[in-house]
Amino acid sequence: QSGWTGVNECTFIAVKPDGVQRKMVGEIVRRFEKKGFKLVGLKLVQASEDLLRDHYWSLRSKPFFSKLITYMSSGPVVAMVWRGLDVVKTARKMLGETNPADSLPGTIRGNYCVEMGRNVIHGSDSVESAQKEISLWFHQSELNRWEDCGSQWIY
Ligand code: TYD
Repeated sequence: QSGWTGVNECTFIAVKPDGVQRKMVGEIVRRFEKKGFKLVGLKLVQASEDLLRDHYWSLRSKPFFSKLITYMSSGPVVAMVWRGLDVVKTARKMLGETNPADSLPGTIRGNYCVEMGRNVIHGSDSVESAQKEISLWFHQSELNRWEDCGSQWIY
C-alpha cells in the first residue's frame, strides 16, 4: 500500500493496562510528541480477548500466551497511532527491549518497569505488523488525515 512509507509511516502503540493504572499515559504521549511524531489516533479501549488473541496471534503457541491475554484484558489500554519518518523502528528504540532488565535507562521500559509480564507499553515490530495492528484496533474514520490540515501545521 503506497502512502505508508517515508514521512507517512505509521506505527501502533498501546499503553498496556499497568501503564494506564500507573498513570503513565501523559508521559508516554509527551515523549512521542516531543520526539516530533504526529498523533493520528488515540482511544481508551477495554480490549476483548478475541481482539487480543488476533493482536498476539503469532505468539499463540508460547507458554506465556494465556497469561499475556489475561494481563492485557485486565483493564483498559490506550491505543494510539503515531506517524513519521522511520516511526516503527524509532518507537521500538524509545520503548526499549521486551525484557525491562535488558532495556537501557532512558527508554520507557528501561525507566519505568522491571517485569517482562508488566512492561507498560506495546509497539509494532515492523511496518507490516503496524498495518495489521492499526486495522485491527482502529476504524479508518478514527484516524486523522494530516494531509487535510494544510501547511500551517508545524512539523
Ligand atoms: P513480544 O512480541 O515478543 O515482545 P514485544 O512486546 O517487545 O514486541 O511479546 C509480547 C509480550 O509478551 C511482551 O511485551 C511481554 C510478553 N512476554 C512475556 O510475558 N514473556 C516472554 O517470555 C516474552 C518473550 C514476552
